[in-house]
Amino acid sequence: MLNFGGEGEIADAINVNNFTQVLRSGTFPKPGDTVLRADFRQVPLPDASVDVIVGNRLPWSATDEWAGAICREAFRLLKAGGVVRLFASTGGATSCLDWLRQAGFVEVETRERYAQGVKP
Ligand SMILES: C[S@@+](CC[C@H](N)C(=O)[O-])C[C@H]1O[C@@H](n2cnc3c(N)ncnc32)[C@H](O)[C@@H]1O
Repeated sequence: MLNFGGEGEIADAINVNNFTQVLRSGTFPKPGDTVLRADFRQVPLPDASVDVIVGNRLPWSATDEWAGAICREAFRLLKAGGVVRLFASTGGATSCLDWLRQAGFVEVETRERYAQGVKP
C-alpha cells in the first residue's frame, strides 16, 4: 500500500512524501516507517505495481491540474482491480470524485471519509 503524503499514520504503508509540508516533524519518520521520498505526482515505481493507494488530507487546492496529476499517477501505479482512496484538506472527499473519474477510475463513490475508485 502507498500512502500519498503519508506521515506514518497508516501502519505498514509506504509513505510517499517529498517533505515539503510535514505536519509531524519530530515524530515522522519514526523508527519502522517506510518512506519513499518522492513527489506523489511522479512516483519512481513501475506501472501497475501497487494494490492500494491512500491519500489522507492531500494538499489539494493548489491548482486543478495538480489534483488531476495525482489521480492520473494513482491510475498508472495501480494494478487492474486496485483501489484508490483519497480525501483532500480542502474539499474533503467530494472534491476528488470528478478527478478520479477523469483519470479513468470506475465505481467512484464516497465511502466513509474517502473518495474511492477502482482501476478497471
Ligand atoms: C496535510 S499533510 C497530511 C499528512 C498526513 N497524510 C496526515 O493525514 O496526517 C500533507 C503531506 O503531503 C506532503 N506533500 C505535499 N506535497 C507533496 C508532493 N507533491 N509529493 C509528496 N508529498 C507531498 C507534505 O510534505 C505533507 O507531509
